[in-house]
Amino acid sequence: MKLPGLADVHVHLREPGDVHKETIRSGTEAALAGGFTTLLAMPNTHPPLVTLAEFRKAQRRASETALCDVFHFAGGSTDHLAELPALGQEAVGLKIYMDQTYGPLRVDTLAALMACFKHWPPGKPIAVHAEGKNVAVAIGLAAAFNRHVHICHVSRKDEITLIAHAKQRGIQVTCEVTPHHLFLSELDARQFGPRANVRPALASQTDVEALWAHLDTVIDCIATDHAPHTLAEKLGPDAPPGMPGLETALPLMLTAVSEGRLTLERLVALMAVNPRRIYGLSSQPDTWVEVDPDDRYTISDEGLHTKSGWSPFSGRTVRGRVRRVVLRGREVFADGVVHPPYAFHSG
Ligand code: NCD
Ligand code: ZN
Ligand code: ZN
Ligand code: ZN
Repeated sequence: MKLPGLADVHVHLREPGDVHKETIRSGTEAALAGGFTTLLAMPNTHPPLVTLAEFRKAQRRASETALCDVFHFAGGSTDHLAELPALGQEAVGLKIYMDQTYGPLRVDTLAALMACFKHWPPGKPIAVHAEGKNVAVAIGLAAAFNRHVHICHVSRKDEITLIAHAKQRGIQVTCEVTPHHLFLSELDARQFGPRANVRPALASQTDVEALWAHLDTVIDCIATDHAPHTLAEKLGPDAPPGMPGLETALPLMLTAVSEGRLTLERLVALMAVNPRRIYGLSSQPDTWVEVDPDDRYTISDEGLHTKSGWSPFSGRTVRGRVRRVVLRGREVFADGVVHPPYAFHSG
């Protein structure tokens, strides 16, 4: 069975700065193994992508080492507002961290938030890490500035309900949910210990059910929030939040299709069509993913391409395997093996 190349609008590639967790090369290998041919990379690197100089360095690095298309977000910060108009010409979107999460980026005063909205050119989305009440702040900004805000990793019933209301009102808001918020809950968190530490935290069964209930109507895309940290870091002191997800998202979602929880058509909308539409990405010609929808296997830490080397889904049996990925007419992945490097357009 053939699917279009998937696009993941929320990925942490850790380059520059944390290359022991992931590199642009290893992260894009994991992407291809998971059926993704386009990644949108987050700016919370070290240093973060808040200046044009750092942004361009990251882009150049991606154009040299990425194995699939990589587009970068610029980061909103209180210190570099003057850089935003120029960054807005080159970045795929602006990312604003309204809540505390991994890395130093944070914009938490109303003045700084409004300045970001004012300086970011119209026509390119502003993506936000906003939890709880901050979802309402983000929606308020979208309404007041009459512009598109994309809400990252929605995880709570109240949040998705509020977004549904905002959409009904015609406010330009879109949102993503992650596979870990669809397939794991706080019950798993107890069993997993520090591995389950992620922002937003895994939620209640009621929250998980609310996300599934809005999958066909309110949720625009599935994004992995692939946030690789090594197991040693996860199990050590000051464990960082985040979990890898690029290699497990499609098998998990195909499993849900085989169980009748969503249609294949909806999966393609959530993982390929809508992500490209939201961020205005042109399509990749001669690009597809061949999956075997009936192949069952058990996810395991062994043989993952992510440098972080583990998955919160290890031990889980899924139905649906990525067999082959063709990108712009070239076979780039087949039967577990990523093919030799080839420099793709990246921007
Ligand atoms: C992300 C990371 O590790 O960069 N961690 C996470 O728990 N999701 C940051 C983020 O997406 O908020
Ligand atoms: Zn986040
Ligand atoms: Zn993230
Ligand atoms: Zn480009």
